[in-house]
Amino acid sequence: MLTPDLLQHADRLKGETLRALADAAGDRANRMIRRAAGVEFDATKQRLDTVTLDALIDAARKAGLEEKREKLLSGGIVNPTEGRPALHMAYRQGARISGSQEAELVERTQAQTRAFAEQVRSGAYAPSGKPIERVVNIGIGGSDLGPRLIADALADHTGSGPQMRFVASLDPSDLQHAVAGADPETVLFIVASKSFSTQETLMSGEAARDWLAGKIGPERAGAHFAAASAAPDKARAFGIDPDRVFDFPDWVGGRYSVWSAVGLALEIGQGPDLFADFRAGARDMDSHFAVAPLEDNLPVLKGLVDVWNRAALGYPSRCVAAYSARLGKLADYFQQLEMESLGKSVTIAGHPGPTPGGALVWGGSGTEIQHSFFQWLHQGKDVVPVDFIGIARHFASDNPRERALAANMAAQGAALLDGRRIDPAVEPALASHKSMPGGRPSATILLDDLTPRTLGALIALQEHKVFVESVMYDINPFDQWGVELGKVLTKGILDGDISEYDASTKALLARTGLIGD
Ligand code: F6P
Repeated sequence: MLTPDLLQHADRLKGETLRALADAAGDRANRMIRRAAGVEFDATKQRLDTVTLDALIDAARKAGLEEKREKLLSGGIVNPTEGRPALHMAYRQGARISGSQEAELVERTQAQTRAFAEQVRSGAYAPSGKPIERVVNIGIGGSDLGPRLIADALADHTGSGPQMRFVASLDPSDLQHAVAGADPETVLFIVASKSFSTQETLMSGEAARDWLAGKIGPERAGAHFAAASAAPDKARAFGIDPDRVFDFPDWVGGRYSVWSAVGLALEIGQGPDLFADFRAGARDMDSHFAVAPLEDNLPVLKGLVDVWNRAALGYPSRCVAAYSARLGKLADYFQQLEMESLGKSVTIAGHPGPTPGGALVWGGSGTEIQHSFFQWLHQGKDVVPVDFIGIARHFASDNPRERALAANMAAQGAALLDGRRIDPAVEPALASHKSMPGGRPSATILLDDLTPRTLGALIALQEHKVFVESVMYDINPFDQWGVELGKVLTKGILDGDISEYDASTKALLARTGLIGD
């Protein structure tokens, strides 16, 4: 919770320049740079001092963060509106549930997906007599963004294996592009859906089945389908062979599910061993989060900084700037993870929340974004904290382009912090146009290098920092009731039952012919 004491700190610090805070002597730098699991978090460009940081940590303790962390990791009911634990960490052996039924289920399902991935990769599973050369993941939200991100992020670590493609959009073009150029007899579709009731995924799955049946005959098409779902009965009812329905429990949230059978396309395309390394990196971060004192805890520091910027300093959004071509999809992934977890306005008890909840998260990859929206960040009226995510190896690389990439990222953080004042006496006409206010906070997150393990650690860091924020906001980060209404209204439109809909929507649907007059 944000106490009046913390808000007084905010008022005090608003009077300081970021430059003065960043240049301050003493142990500020030591306190605001943390390393764990191959990831370094540097908060020294934040509008924060050690006094305020201690107050935030004290507030976290008073909010019961340590007890709630234990409850999360040991399988307590941390998602009360659905009556579930949140044990996605179990899929990287990062939870404290050894010997439990949950642990056995995880072990079983992981063995099943590994075995199937090895059969596909070795050619032992070749339903039409030819080895699978392309795996197409059909899914959306958490059943798409995680696999899509990891496939791209670890592309440089991916040896031989089936190509991976992803279909999330209902637009027929998405499926067409995913199968373009493929020999239909060498394609394997994975229908990834926790609920196995998501309209987009089911319609695209049916379209894929129709496409393949048209190519190789309906009697053979079915063997080219697998499923990853927490509703295995529905997957089997869809027509997928039970031997290729890979289940996971409902206590793995969609946006937290890449570690589970939802990662099957990755185990096939990149290999089970690489996927195991990815999980191992997350386990490294889990272990740190579980035992490090709050003062030395990287996810805690990151979560408190984001709470401070959002709820104390009042910045409504945060920009994720990944300075790595392979992390171009990171902002999209973080966007769902954070905004679907923290975009809530009532507390766990169901009362109006006194704090704003999580920030709007957006971003892209650098240096490209310096040539699109950084003008707005530097001279616009809104202050948006930026998370610069880079690769530490680039800074001392022999490759001049990697060094330039690192230099650009460091320069942008310095420019946002310091700004620039042009003396009107020197350039009377353009001084105000060329001046930049500065005083804009940023954080720097460095992966030692981009590897399966550091990527796993980064994503686990993000998951745990979201949990820290949820404790400070006293909200449930694991449900998502806000997405239900849109699904109901879509069904009404497609069923033609819009009598209760607003006039604007009715007119739109009539004018465009979706629904007749
Ligand atoms: O957006 C709502 C949501 O339920 C997400 O939480 C989820 O990741 C996505 O839709 C897909 O759901 P499913 O995996 O059940 O198809």
